[in-house]
Amino acid sequence: MKIFLDTAKLDELKAGFSTGIVDGTTTNPSLMKKAIEASGDDTDIESYINKILEIAGKLPVSLEVKGGSADDMISQGKALYKRFSNSNNHVVIKIPLNPSTDDTNPTSFEGLKAIKALSDEGIPINVTLIFTPEQALLAAKAGAAYVSPFVGRIDDKIRKDNNMEFEKTDYFPAEGIEKEGKEGKDSTILAEEESGLESGIELVEEIRVILDNYDMNSEIIAASIRNSRQAREAALAGADIATLPPQVFNQMTAHNKTREGMRNFLKDTIPEYEKLM
Ligand code: G3P
Repeated sequence: MKIFLDTAKLDELKAGFSTGIVDGTTTNPSLMKKAIEASGDDTDIESYINKILEIAGKLPVSLEVKGGSADDMISQGKALYKRFSNSNNHVVIKIPLNPSTDDTNPTSFEGLKAIKALSDEGIPINVTLIFTPEQALLAAKAGAAYVSPFVGRIDDKIRKDNNMEFEKTDYFPAEGIEKEGKEGKDSTILAEEESGLESGIELVEEIRVILDNYDMNSEIIAASIRNSRQAREAALAGADIATLPPQVFNQMTAHNKTREGMRNFLKDTIPEYEKLM
């Protein structure tokens, strides 16, 4: 499984890429806002993005459009790609599957049209905000290079719907939880509201099956990952890539028995042996 970093913060990107095993990075408008605000003073966003690209070198960097109509997203995507993609960079344009923000008018083909048009021009597209396997199927049919299921946000929704208290980084079982039925609804109705998914990881598993059924080449980026165990489960589910918040990437290295073992090895290293190194 490839590892991307899900951050726009330069220090976090530098630390992650310094390991030599990071394969790319993903940003979105919220991550960009956070990073720019944290960097303080009057950062010029164009040069800031160029710094991100410099750190990533030839590895993929996703930059997201603002959204809107297909025409808007096509011109935003082309503008970003033209401005930031050069022979040394691999810029990927991130497009929402469905840019609708209107609960009374939830369906829209605008994302699909933009994904298809830009993919047809050879611009690699990362389709974001995927919450059902069928959304991923449509994105793949439109030619997406990447599809990004939002694993943690599905788990959040299931927990909220079940009145569970939780911290953002808490583990949520891939096999789901015993559901209690919300506001008098039974668990069948609840399951329907969740599109039949028991967890965010199950979303990745189902997308894996569908893409494999039809030999579709879109790579699955497990996104919105909240802890290292979920990163493991994304790998078990067959995600091609997990895009990780830097804290999760760090967490993947750690175990208390590893530290304990290190303390003992350091204590037991005899000077004669150390001289050989
Ligand atoms: O890659 C998607 C990610 O940035 C969303 O994460 O934690 O806001 O659900 P989160």
